[in-house]
Amino acid sequence: MTEIREIDAGTSMTRFARGWHCLGLAEEFRDGQPHGVDAFGTRLVVYSDSAGAVHVLDGYCRHMGGDLSRGTVKDDNLACPFHDWRWGSDGKCALVPYAKRTPRLARTRTWPTHEVNGQLLVWHDPQRSDPPPELAPPSIEGYPEGRWSPWQWNSMLIEGSHCREIVDNNVDMAHFFYIHHAYPTFFTNVIEGHTASQFMESKPRPDYIADPDKLWDGTYLRSEATYFGPAYMINWLHNDLAPGFTVEVALINCHYPVTHNSFVLQYGVAVQQMPGLPADKAAKLASAMSRSFGEGFLEDVEIWKHKTRIDNPLLTEEDGAVYQHRRWYEQFYVDLDEVTPEMTARFELEVDTTHAFGIWEQEVNANLEKLTAR
Ligand code: FES
Ligand SMILES: [Fe+2]
Repeated sequence: MTEIREIDAGTSMTRFARGWHCLGLAEEFRDGQPHGVDAFGTRLVVYSDSAGAVHVLDGYCRHMGGDLSRGTVKDDNLACPFHDWRWGSDGKCALVPYAKRTPRLARTRTWPTHEVNGQLLVWHDPQRSDPPPELAPPSIEGYPEGRWSPWQWNSMLIEGSHCREIVDNNVDMAHFFYIHHAYPTFFTNVIEGHTASQFMESKPRPDYIADPDKLWDGTYLRSEATYFGPAYMINWLHNDLAPGFTVEVALINCHYPVTHNSFVLQYGVAVQQMPGLPADKAAKLASAMSRSFGEGFLEDVEIWKHKTRIDNPLLTEEDGAVYQHRRWYEQFYVDLDEVTPEMTARFELEVDTTHAFGIWEQEVNANLEKLTAR
């Protein structure tokens, strides 16, 4: 009798990842109002000053615990709705209007921020380190020059899952066929330092397309995706849609944890302007693509909602670098001096897609035959 393999569901996480986390489009926070964000097991308040700089502070007032996001911005300070105490962007108590003496030494927590690609990022570290400049995600080429359509931005709260589930997707070749209806013809991961990349080439599944006859034979997607730290991915998508017509798409896939068992997933799509693709068409295409990525993420969410956490996944060769990738992810959940060389060492793995591809082709063809028989 062989032994039954048991699932090790692990223990739930007790800390949140160190790294840059995107809270959304920076512009949304520049409306003169304070915004409350539930993240990292606490509440943050985000607001902009009169110069347009965006600041993030702890959401709860150090006086009696008022929610600063329900207050107002007065003279570039946050005014608490409870007793009107004012908090500066440096975290210092700037004024208690009714008191003889303001406790000038009192401070609340401020959170380092960074703006890139039109998005607001906040740095989280339970050890309160300053963010090293080399960890900031890069600017997308041409974005500062306005060569991309505006972001089509979306946000969804996912409850009952730890954000490791979405990060696992980075190395999961087979789920692209079953969940996202694409078949990968090439799939490689490269892990190094604080980055983890996925290089994938895929074709759409014709059995999931309304009118497969209209699909150009050469329709092909070349995708390069990199996580810069634990929670912010830039995905460059080169879409060959017609002979000589390749649309360049940037997809941001990012999240921040709310609790140890919930997170906010955000994604944004922008399309690069090019000859033959004027700005209005690029924007339309971005919104259509954003819808389809949204549907894709919802299909992932359906899986996450019902699956168990599993620390000892049972894998085949085609499942790729799940353990190596989790070891890389682990670096963000330990103190800086506990980061081991194995967590950050360069690791590269190409998954051989040929066997799977042959099997999948048979499945797709059988489905197409069923569809035409109807
Ligand atoms: S609780 Fe904020 S001013 Fe009193
Ligand atoms: Fe997925």
